Amino acid sequence: MALNKIAVELTTAPKSKPDNGQLSFGKYFTDHMFILDYDAGKGWHDPRIVPYQPIPLDPAAKVFHYGQTVFEGMKAYKTPEGPVLLFRPYKNLQRLNRSNARLSIPHIDEGLVIEALKQLIQIDKDWIPDEQGTSLYIRPFVIATQATLGVQPSEQYMFMIILSPVGSYYAEGINPVNIYVESEYVRAVTGGVGNAKTGGNYAAGLKAQQEATEKGYSQVLWLDGIHRKYIEEVGSMNVFFKVGDKVITPALNGSILEGVTRDSVIRLLKHWKVDVEERTISIDELVDAYRNGQLQEAFGTGTAAVISPIGELNWQGDKLTLNGGKTGELSARVYDFMTGLQRGLIEDPFGWIE
Ligand code: COI
Repeated sequence: MALNKIAVELTTAPKSKPDNGQLSFGKYFTDHMFILDYDAGKGWHDPRIVPYQPIPLDPAAKVFHYGQTVFEGMKAYKTPEGPVLLFRPYKNLQRLNRSNARLSIPHIDEGLVIEALKQLIQIDKDWIPDEQGTSLYIRPFVIATQATLGVQPSEQYMFMIILSPVGSYYAEGINPVNIYVESEYVRAVTGGVGNAKTGGNYAAGLKAQQEATEKGYSQVLWLDGIHRKYIEEVGSMNVFFKVGDKVITPALNGSILEGVTRDSVIRLLKHWKVDVEERTISIDELVDAYRNGQLQEAFGTGTAAVISPIGELNWQGDKLTLNGGKTGELSARVYDFMTGLQRGLIEDPFGWIE
């Protein structure tokens, strides 16, 4: 079958849809999904939309043993007038291919994926929730399916897209979360896979997250793996700090994920003529800024939560309360603009909405 001809099999047993109030993050899935297979020699083939269903996999499939897998996260929004909006989908798919390259997974045609995504969303568009704070989360991912235990790149893969109607990522929503600054575990190191969106990075973070939860914190602030000194990410998100008149965020250094929301927020702040610096930020600099009254706001950025303000940072037992534990003015302004833009309620000066 031609790569650009997507076969479609519709479900004969549509599921009942959840109410907006039942949505949290990634709990419900729509009626259909997209699949594309890869075999060495044949390349990517058989693009198809099929009813959402479990997939049979050999227990020896390499993904189970060696974690050869990557994923993406995007969102679609329903506008009051009807059209479905996507936010910077090519930027996500370019990152998918950078993650693929790092994990020795073959490149996937971005145009085909966009086409598949649009068809899939069109088929399942009644699943897109429309209340403020809700959206359709899109999860494209690749798994290595070759059933051999040799530690080599797989010769077979599946690329899939599943869709999930979601509410807010954190139970707190746009309200600030409390964060534990992690000094024992690290998430990634430069030269590793920290800048690829691959499952292992998230598995590596679970233990720290679990211990932080036991201490009453929602997530951790990650420090670098070499000096245990420089700030990298917050939980699974990029992180920004408002210090005096400036906004600072860790520079991409190979171990930090190149977030699409991160890039969008930097460009938005520059558009607003806010002074933004991408550079190394040590935890000591941050604590000093706090003590001098300069550290005014902090927030995480990511597709899932969009903006997640930080209300408190616990650094070795010292509790740094930011903006009185409330959502700061800049965080709220960025959140309102980003979500307004994504929902088609604000004119798009950047050409990000498709
Ligand atoms: C995001 O913030 O969009 C993420 O990547 C988190 C995701 C793993 C749920």
